[in-house]
Amino acid sequence: MDSQMDYHSAKALLAWQIELGATEAIGDRPINRFEAPAPRRAAPVATPAVAMAADPVAAARGAAAAAGDLAALREAMGAFEGCNLKHSARSLVFADGRPGARVMVIGEAPGRDEDIQGKPFVGRAGQLLDRMFAAIGMDRAAPDLEAALYITNILPWRPPQNRDPNPEEVAMMLPFVERHVELAAPDFLVLMGNHSCQALLGRKGITRLRGTWTQALGRPALPMFHPAYLLRTPSAKRAAWHDLLMLQARMRGAP
Ligand code: URA
Repeated sequence: MDSQMDYHSAKALLAWQIELGATEAIGDRPINRFEAPAPRRAAPVATPAVAMAADPVAAARGAAAAAGDLAALREAMGAFEGCNLKHSARSLVFADGRPGARVMVIGEAPGRDEDIQGKPFVGRAGQLLDRMFAAIGMDRAAPDLEAALYITNILPWRPPQNRDPNPEEVAMMLPFVERHVELAAPDFLVLMGNHSCQALLGRKGITRLRGTWTQALGRPALPMFHPAYLLRTPSAKRAAWHDLLMLQARMRGAP
């Protein structure tokens, strides 16, 4: 682009691009943000960086255990330097919905929309998730905690290009998820998709796992198809409906 372009032409061009639907400024050439100079940070954090690099899982465990409430946990995750995803993501996506809800939904990781908005499950899959739970009278914002949801993910940062989380990333963020569940104290967990099951049950194979109650982190847990999978495979919605009814029955006291 002409670097001498005057202010008004540049502004008009930008307005035109926004009207066409542009939402992000992307350069002609890719930028490797892992090699870009580190952003200037404010006050040094208390956790020694050396210990963090040596054993990020132990550092995560210590930071998570020290968090006495959800606000402190969110802060501890924001200060955690062990996971590189933090540096490529825009937002820490901590949770949405009502802490104290009887049901806590645990997904995989934020996608693009979640990264932009800083909230879990707000893109197309999230909208389907909302419709699924609405079908059994549940809503993340419901004032009644019986009908409310509390929603989080295994990873709080979007992996670049929505790639799968790797086992090291999951291992180092797991202590935070465990503490998150402890502090939110739901009666039931819903594990959305394979990555959530792999992280919390140590098992994959959602087609076999879904629809059967199991235990995760000492609580009853129901694996379900991930709504992103349901968007690609509408024929699986029947099974998801079955699982939602199982959840509803259990909440009403069925064994
Ligand atoms: N998929 C997930 O697993 N989590 C989100 O927050 C969004 C999409």
